[in-house]
Amino acid sequence: MKNSILIVDDIHPIFIEQARALGFTCDYQPTLKADAAFGILPDYNGLVIRSKFQVDKQVLDLATNLRFICRAGAGMDNIDEDYALSKNITLINAPEGNMDAVGEHAIGLLLSLMNNLNAADAEIRKGSWQREANRGHELKGKTVGIVGYGHMGKSLAKKLSGFGVLIIAYDKYKTGFSDQYVREVSMEEIVRTSDVLSLHVPLTKETNGLVDDEYLFHFKKPIFLINTSRGKVVKTQSVLNAIKQGKILGAGLDVLETEKFPALREQPWFDELRQSGKVILSPHVAGWTFDSYRKISEVMAFKLKDVALL
Ligand code: 3PG
Repeated sequence: MKNSILIVDDIHPIFIEQARALGFTCDYQPTLKADAAFGILPDYNGLVIRSKFQVDKQVLDLATNLRFICRAGAGMDNIDEDYALSKNITLINAPEGNMDAVGEHAIGLLLSLMNNLNAADAEIRKGSWQREANRGHELKGKTVGIVGYGHMGKSLAKKLSGFGVLIIAYDKYKTGFSDQYVREVSMEEIVRTSDVLSLHVPLTKETNGLVDDEYLFHFKKPIFLINTSRGKVVKTQSVLNAIKQGKILGAGLDVLETEKFPALREQPWFDELRQSGKVILSPHVAGWTFDSYRKISEVMAFKLKDVALL
């Protein structure tokens, strides 16, 4: 029981190896159902989870011996952070482990959109060779607006540094972060000057539904929109409306308000979304690479050292 960790999601074995070396015992149960996990949680000091279930007040009250939670990834929106902290539970996440994946995926979406790659590929497969309709836009000389300047936003800015773009960023909770990669600006400047908008905010009460009709209305130029953060930050119908109005030239969405089937198919906007040639979709995998699988676990194990000392 002492120094015992319950692991309820699939993680790289390196975490278990390193946690054991720190004196923890690990119970690796990636296929455990939520209800079964709730039943045995009181037996553990630590919980390792990706996004299998919500760690809300009720779950935290059940977990009477919990000292720490490791989120094998970046987003903490499935954990009631305030309540956990009020119970002196240490929270660990590992955005350093998947920030490279997210930065690269965001650029992949952006370049695919700007060069019509998915649409052009589909046309050729159907026997249609159209050059003019597939004329692309260059990134060079454009202004890329990053909203949310944590690990993911920074990773994107660094990776864009060779493209000859102007990179500006707004973060409601950070100041003084201008450097060789980025210029810190107000949201007003993001809206006024961006050609590309890339979202890197966590999902909170403040960011839920942030990108809606009104928000998009204020952009001065037509934009390419990239969302690799959380689906609920963006109102999908508003993106589709802005595409119709020519305010969004293309949207690369790795995350959606509702994810997975069959729930996604039942959304009123899904048919329009899937038929739009101006949208590229990926199934919430921006941060999920062969490389990040290992790096996330390494970062978590490294941070576990501090817990071991407590
Ligand atoms: C994250 O927050 O790290 C990513 O969105 C990946 O989440 P996942 O652990 O649910 O794959």
